[in-house]
This record gives sequence, C-alpha cells and structure tokens, in this order.
Amino acid sequence: MKEIRTTVPGLARKKRAGEKISMLTAYDYPFARILDQAGTDILLVGDSLGSVVQGRETTLPVTLDEMVYHTRLVSRAAERSLVVADMPFGSFQIGVERTLEATVRLVKDGGAHAVKLEGGERVADRIRAIAGMDIPLMGHIGLTPQSVHRMGGYRVQGRGPEGRARLLRDARVVQEAGAFALVLEGVPRDLAAEITGELEIPTIGIGAGPDCDGQVLVIHDLLGLGGEAPPRFVRRYVDLAEIVGKAARMYIEDVREQKFPAEAESY
Ligand code: KIV
Repeated sequence: MKEIRTTVPGLARKKRAGEKISMLTAYDYPFARILDQAGTDILLVGDSLGSVVQGRETTLPVTLDEMVYHTRLVSRAAERSLVVADMPFGSFQIGVERTLEATVRLVKDGGAHAVKLEGGERVADRIRAIAGMDIPLMGHIGLTPQSVHRMGGYRVQGRGPEGRARLLRDARVVQEAGAFALVLEGVPRDLAAEITGELEIPTIGIGAGPDCDGQVLVIHDLLGLGGEAPPRFVRRYVDLAEIVGKAARMYIEDVREQKFPAEAESY
C-alpha cells in the first residue's frame, strides 16, 4: 500500500533505500499548504521563526505559546508532510516533567506529529523520556542556535579532534536515547558523512554538506526573504523580496494615479 503521508517508519525506509529526505521550515497556513502540496517530506515549525518572522536577533525569546500557535497553523495545512515542532528555549531545560508537558502541548494543541530539541548527551534523559511516551523525537546537534552565547556566535562545530569526538558521542547518544532522526547543523562535511554512515537513523543536514540523508533549509532563505547576506550554505531559488516589493510599488502607483480600483473591481 502506498503511503500518503510521510511517516517516521517511512523516513527510516528512505534512509535504507538511499532516498534523500527533504525538509523545509514553515510557520503559517499558506506557506505550509504550498510546501505540503509540492511534496516536502517534513515541515519543520522551527524556532527560527524568532528571527525570520518576529525579527528578533536570536531564537531565545520564542515562547512555547508562540510555537503551539504556529504549529497549529502549519498542521492545519499539512496533508502529506510530517509536521515537526521545535521545542523553544526554556521548554526543556527545567527538568523532565516540564519537558513532557511542553511536548504534550505541541502534539495535542499544536497538532505536531513529532518534536525536535537541541542538544546531545546533556539532554539524553529528556530525549529518552519523550521517546518513551511514544512521541517521535528529532535530535539537533552541531551549531545549535539556542547555544549562541556559549558558542560566541553562529560558528561551525566539530572542528578539531575534541570537537569531533564530542559530536560523534552526541550523535550516538541521541540515537541510543530513542530519536528517530537527527539534524546536523554547521558541521564539517567529512564529520557529517561519518555520522551519517554510522547511525541507523536518518541525518538531516543544514550547512553540513551533501552526504547527509536529507537536507533542511529555512524557507525564508530559499525564497530570498531572509535579509541581505544569507549564509554560504543557502541556495536562494527565487528573490521574493524583489518580486513582492515590485508588486507593492505597482499597487501604490495605481492607487495614487487612481487606476485602482477599476470599474470592474468595484461593486
Ligand atoms: O529552527 C529552525 O529552523 C531549525 C532548522 C534550521 C534546522 O532548527
């Protein structure tokens, strides 16, 4: 029987079959509907919404209520994609019980199929607890944006023997704790390839080279809505900022010159 919706076991099968996995971020209904219908395997309601939707400098202020709200908009539109909701900063740092409460809200009120949280060995107990409740959990290691202040900026991780060993250990622990997939962000290509080759669960890369089992991009970056200088790993497929700006300028001119609305556009 052909699966209509992307499922957790379906993603594991894709890895075994060598089929690449596509993941994109989505934060609202219209974009989620377009990306779902385009055939995106996974829609990630990323806490990157703090930067690209809310205009904040980091993802740290994003709240659980905001994540639940955006997840609800996305899950309402998603008919085929698996919807993964990010656990925002503060929702999983204060013990296992608070973590489980937050997870349940994202699934029950937001409609997420799975959740994602940042960190490796240090959050293993929380990954184990979530997976133990039968809630699919996606890990996220490497350049974890919620750790921006510890890292001293958004820097590639896993360089040098110590950093490499730490990330390899994190990847193994996340899989062992029960995650169904792992995001590798800002990791040298050869290390991402090594982790991907070793793990049974799929890896999804962002700034981690082509050898991961899948790729993820922030939709605003891909569409040219993410600001002036996107990171080097971003491929901008269209310049929507230019297109939207042009449409707005045309409309403004038509209003000023009384060309809009026309007779046919009036009741
Ligand atoms: O928040 C986000 O969008 C993410 C992806 C960049 C992986 O975590």
